[in-house]
Amino acid sequence: MVISEATRGQIEARMADYPVRRGALLPALHLVQAEHGHISRELAAELAELFEIHPIEVMEVVTFYNMFYDRPQGRHHVYVCTNLPCSLRGAREMLQGLERHLGIRAGETTEDGRVSLGHEECLGACAYAPMLRVGETYHEDLDLDAAKQIVDALE
Ligand code: FES
Repeated sequence: MVISEATRGQIEARMADYPVRRGALLPALHLVQAEHGHISRELAAELAELFEIHPIEVMEVVTFYNMFYDRPQGRHHVYVCTNLPCSLRGAREMLQGLERHLGIRAGETTEDGRVSLGHEECLGACAYAPMLRVGETYHEDLDLDAAKQIVDALE
């Protein structure tokens, strides 16, 4: 058993809020990810048992939403918005530049575990394109040099 008793208790409490227990799967995934940093296959199997569903059904949800991770992540999540308004203002080139700068592709994590890089759909800051977020913090009106400075400042 990998999911702690405390988290199991929280999940069971959430299940009671829904007419069917699987309705609490999203909150449960948030709780487990907060505890473990990502949802491994082992954790998905435990959740599946708890929810009385197949492990693949858990992984389908994990891999559908980009807020869930199926593998260990870096200490910082750097996500470049690549939706149309940001792309028209250079976001894709900015992302490619960050890939070269960090030596990883979008969807990967630096070897030192410092940064996980990715792209994302519109974050509602189109007027300030191109932009990226680091965790919950938005950085706007960027160019590649500014984006590199933001990434380099992350410890
Ligand atoms: S398209 Fe990038 S914030 Fe909307």
